[in-house]
Amino acid sequence: MIAANKFLFIEQALEQRNQAHQLRGMYPFEPQNTVQGVRGDRQLINFSSNDYLGLSKHPLLIEMAQDYTQKYGTGATASRLVTGTYSIHQNLEQQLAESCGYEAALLFNSGFQANSTILPTLLDRSSLVLCDRLVHNSLLQGIQASRARFIRYRHNDLQHLETLLVQSAEKSYSRILIVSETVFSMDGDRSDIDALVQLAQSHNAILYLDDAHAFGVLGKTGMGLAADRAGIDIVINTFGKAFGTFGAFVACSQQVRDYLVNYCPGFIYTTSLPPAVIGAITAALNLVPTLESERHYLTQQATNLRVELQRLNYNTGQSNSQIVPLILGSEEKTLHLSQWLEARGVLAIAIRPPTVAAGTARLRFALSSQHTPQHLDQLISLIREWHESQS
Ligand SMILES: Cc1ncc(COP(=O)(O)O)c(C=O)c1O
Repeated sequence: MIAANKFLFIEQALEQRNQAHQLRGMYPFEPQNTVQGVRGDRQLINFSSNDYLGLSKHPLLIEMAQDYTQKYGTGATASRLVTGTYSIHQNLEQQLAESCGYEAALLFNSGFQANSTILPTLLDRSSLVLCDRLVHNSLLQGIQASRARFIRYRHNDLQHLETLLVQSAEKSYSRILIVSETVFSMDGDRSDIDALVQLAQSHNAILYLDDAHAFGVLGKTGMGLAADRAGIDIVINTFGKAFGTFGAFVACSQQVRDYLVNYCPGFIYTTSLPPAVIGAITAALNLVPTLESERHYLTQQATNLRVELQRLNYNTGQSNSQIVPLILGSEEKTLHLSQWLEARGVLAIAIRPPTVAAGTARLRFALSSQHTPQHLDQLISLIREWHESQS
């Protein structure tokens, strides 16, 4: 029976989140530069953005975004298959494919959109998907929408994956897809790409990797961990993180690209990325290979932060990238530390279930090459102070 209050389910769902200290909200943050901004009346050092190289405010990206806007206008005015493919879209796709060492590349309007629409296009009800337990929600959305049989293997446990692959041989699936991230977004640890390639090849599975947090930061010339590697069938990269702009692309074979152009709804039925965004991405693509010393510095800073947190006996998981989690477990404690830091000039957003697994609430420090050693010192000494206040 329909309840008298037809929005009772919303009231109850929100109350449930509230009771569990999991209610989410948005609080305006005005950026002043790539690592600092103002929230309320407080100036904060931002340790929560994914602007890993500080490119979001780089003059070359801004200039090219402005230049393309002047030349082509503010909107691409149609979908790609209608009149929304300009030469700037095509040139960028070609340059992306070459830079990553893949036959072809295809732009998408966001990483979320790419994952949630490409996966159902590749799968059917008779397919099997084996995916890492900690993959991003956009990948789960795509998998669930496909209605394929879906099993999650234990995080980075490739023996578990192999067991599932062996078991799958007894069934007659139309195809098998293995899905993982290369750098996990909330843990900052990495998957073993060589082993995934080997498993995919020996079981004739399609390997689908999301390289969002490595793109720009890791790999040869910063093109990600999946660049220039044989045996990976489909790679998703996003521009909203180290590239400092917006959008995403898939790197794949020409045949897969042709298939997506013909069958992928999230590619076909949406307005093409606007010229300003294409301009900023193009500028970033020219710039990123030159930022080797920034990448080196970023890696070093992340190592320093992990060492300091571990010295205080904090759990930083298996982090091995610019993403450093401080896993406290309890939502309340995590929120307390986040608010305590904010009151002292440091912004580090609490990440709670359901974004992460129950019992693993954390602060996720996302470092940028623009954070100075003083910024890191400030963060570390504040955490030390909080730590002492707790004992
Ligand atoms: C692993 C991963 N894939 C995809 C996305 C979505 O990308 P976008 O922000 O471009 O939608 C994110 C980030 O939110 C992510 O962390």
